Amino acid sequence: MVEDADRWRRAGKIGAEARELGAGLLVPGASRREVAEEVERHIRARGALPAFPANLSTNQEAAHYTPDPEDDYRFRTGDLVKLDVGAHLGGAISDTAVTVEVGSGRHAGLLKAARTAQESAGALLKDGVETRELSLAIERAIRAQGYRPVENLSGHTIEPYLLHAGVSIPNVAGFSSQTLHAGQVVAIEPFATGGGGRIRNGPFGNILRFREPPDPERSPALAEAFERFRTLPFCLRWVPEEELRAALMKERRHLQTYPVFVEVREGLVAQWERTFLLTPEGAECLTP
Ligand code: CO
Repeated sequence: MVEDADRWRRAGKIGAEARELGAGLLVPGASRREVAEEVERHIRARGALPAFPANLSTNQEAAHYTPDPEDDYRFRTGDLVKLDVGAHLGGAISDTAVTVEVGSGRHAGLLKAARTAQESAGALLKDGVETRELSLAIERAIRAQGYRPVENLSGHTIEPYLLHAGVSIPNVAGFSSQTLHAGQVVAIEPFATGGGGRIRNGPFGNILRFREPPDPERSPALAEAFERFRTLPFCLRWVPEEELRAALMKERRHLQTYPVFVEVREGLVAQWERTFLLTPEGAECLTP
């Protein structure tokens, strides 16, 4: 149950602004690193913090890629880019994503599949809705466009300081169902693909997280980084000090690392995500 709805609305609005800003920057030749930095800069300029490093996963990557400090990739015409961003404001978190096909429109059907799936499920949200109904709406909308839902990725509830809270909303029906209630915050995020419909773990996606406070005796550098990021996800672009970057990479096994999620048949993946606050009558989209 959300106590301070206005703070969640503000986190939502800032996340949505950052998403739209970033989407507009996804043009042929744009630097992947600079787009991530612009998006995160906007969130900070509006008085919030990025809830996680801006994800810019491309083509067969579904999620969890953020540029490292040396990333020199420039987007090419036809790249299918998932920009997934979130703002964090005193515990209130937003989570929202858009897919952009850079400089062309050959995959409009795939984008439409993800978007209509998100809209169909969003329209069903209200106090008492079953997650099974949402999953079914997502699966049907994606299959109706001739694509596959990614069956091992899910939407999720959000709680203060917790991006992925207890309840999952799978992209396919058939999992056990749970009931959602007014006052809950929920992220609906369908993934559609022309591939096999599953993701596997790929290489390290440059996102790190402390599972627990490090021992300051053993590693003062790590303890210093912990003071900055606590248990929230972060990346080396947010660590300007070369020495601290090196220490973090050396001690990486003590941190949680996130692999990039890659489509099992290297199929292209599209994602669409909005965060909602459930109300007795329906739901308020916090990231319009
Ligand atoms: Co999400």
